[in-house]
Amino acid sequence: MERYSADEHRYEQMQYQRCGRSGVLLPKVSLGFWHNFGGVDDYQRCRQIARYAFDHGITHFDLANNYGPPYGSAEQTLGRLLDDDLRPYRDELFISTKAGYDMWPGPYGNWGSRKYLMASLDQSLQRMHLQYVDLFYSHRYDPETPLEETLQALVDIVRSGKALYVGISRWPLEATRFAFRYLRERDVPCLIYQGRINLLDRAPIQEGILDLCRQEGVGFISFSPLAQGLLTDRYLNGIPEGSRMSRGKFLRPDMLTPEVMQQIRHYNAEAQAEGRTLAEYALAWILRQAGVTSVLVGASSTEQLQKNLRCAVL
Ligand SMILES: NC(=O)c1ccc[n+]([C@@H]2O[C@H](COP(=O)([O-])OP(=O)(O)OC[C@H]3O[C@@H](n4cnc5c(N)ncnc54)[C@H](OP(=O)(O)O)[C@@H]3O)[C@@H](O)[C@H]2O)c1
Repeated sequence: MERYSADEHRYEQMQYQRCGRSGVLLPKVSLGFWHNFGGVDDYQRCRQIARYAFDHGITHFDLANNYGPPYGSAEQTLGRLLDDDLRPYRDELFISTKAGYDMWPGPYGNWGSRKYLMASLDQSLQRMHLQYVDLFYSHRYDPETPLEETLQALVDIVRSGKALYVGISRWPLEATRFAFRYLRERDVPCLIYQGRINLLDRAPIQEGILDLCRQEGVGFISFSPLAQGLLTDRYLNGIPEGSRMSRGKFLRPDMLTPEVMQQIRHYNAEAQAEGRTLAEYALAWILRQAGVTSVLVGASSTEQLQKNLRCAVL
């Protein structure tokens, strides 16, 4: 591939929103590396998607230690992308990673202990060829580890300079309230909560998590905003070969129930009535929820990203 030079107009189309009561602005559309950036994926396609994203103002890339497959390989891909193309733009990028799910065997490679979080971040930095990440998350709530232990590890990570900010993902309401207070009292306020809000799943709204974030001045980023592709035209006429559902691991055909299909058709009709695609409509709906900072999309091609970016200007 030819040498990369970022599009000089890259900041003209994207809109940026303040992340809670922080100094950080995030693009309305961010890019996730959960799928399509692993060691099993074609590196040149990863590179095209990442270049396209950055050229269109997507400054925020979201990773986790175990994104791949195999585990760790999405972070290795990011390291390669930095070495090949993006290193000159490091200060224009906002890179996050996480630990909390199964990563390595034995008692120290999972959940929320200080031992796991500290070791995992060190490994992530090595894989990504980075000295620090912009944002480090506790990827999930651990009911067996004292919350103070997990949260103090996040505080100490920021103090060590290995992350500039911290966040939490998928924590339940009361633990989230505790986390926000604990972190604020130690002058390391929680930057952002990562949870799933989309037209088919509104749990963080119903459970009061989005409201809490708004009250506490914490940003909110919505993962799987397209319900892994269900809220696009991907499955309106069956299950296309090569789609996430055809691979059947995280999005299974049995999730496409008649009720879900009916909801998808309903939202598709509403989108069409507004002259929008279902994907644009679904993303714009999330971005209208007060307190939402960004939608964290996935994409298996630049074409998908191109379509999804249209919501950013609605
Ligand atoms: N915190 C957590 O626990 C957690 C959990 C899940 C995800 N995440 C984060 O959220 C990010 C996004 O999650 P996600 O990949 O599930 O997001 P998503 O945006 O809901 O789904 C992305 C997938 O939908 C399909 N798609 C996207 N745009 C399309 C379009 N315009 N037309 C047709 N199909 C389209 C593609 O799948 P095909 O392969 O079918 O093309 C694409 O890979 C992840 O990468 C990760 O960073 C976090």
